[in-house]
Amino acid sequence: MIRVPHIIAHRGASIEAPENTIAAFRIAQVRGVNWIECDVTLSANDQCVLIHDDTLDRTTNGTGPIHQQDLSTLRTLDAGAWFSDIYKGERIPTLDETLDTLAALYMGVNLEIKPSGCDAMVLARKVAATIGNRRDVPILLSSFDPQVVAIMAELCPGLDCGWLVEDVPADWKAQYTALKAAALHVDQEQLTAEKCAEITGENVPLICYTVNDPDRARTLLSWGVRAIITDNPALMTTAIPPIR
Ligand code: G3P
Ligand code: MG
Repeated sequence: MIRVPHIIAHRGASIEAPENTIAAFRIAQVRGVNWIECDVTLSANDQCVLIHDDTLDRTTNGTGPIHQQDLSTLRTLDAGAWFSDIYKGERIPTLDETLDTLAALYMGVNLEIKPSGCDAMVLARKVAATIGNRRDVPILLSSFDPQVVAIMAELCPGLDCGWLVEDVPADWKAQYTALKAAALHVDQEQLTAEKCAEITGENVPLICYTVNDPDRARTLLSWGVRAIITDNPALMTTAIPPIR
């Protein structure tokens, strides 16, 4: 499995900058974290763009489903002012632009493939086509959608794809194996020492989200969690020294 650092910035440094924007990614690096997690989905004309929700309302000055707007319209929207005037003018990033920026910053990415509201297989293929043969950015793919996880090894040979879950299903190992997943990404609230031991005991890399309490982060890492995904990289890098 790809080497990931023990701290990954969730949607960038999303506690202090608008999530899933280039500004949030740059600030994560300033705070000492060189991997970000971000959410990729499709515009109406099947272009890969970064946004978490399936509507524009919360994180832009637009309204309605993102999947009903072409890229040209999406790019006119403001994705920063909702957070703070400081970030007025931030745009919804394309995946291309994001990878170019991360490459220039020597950063890596956990790219969460999020089909909510669009066709999952079209999204998977578009993400694969956008990544193409570029290997200038370390990429760990992930998705809550099992069909996406299952197809990424075929679409992106050589790239790993993690399987995202909220809670860990009782038959997680059988499903994980069938999906040919490369890591298990779990909601940290569902994890116990016993559950972590069960997963890591199977040599399955365990990543958890979203951890904003340094004490909880230390506990999870002591239980064998490979990486924690946090909104607050500044706090985490201050509280937790580099360990690998
Ligand atoms: O990839 C970890 C985490 O981002 C999954 O949940 O809803 O924040 O995308 P969500
Ligand atoms: Mg996400």
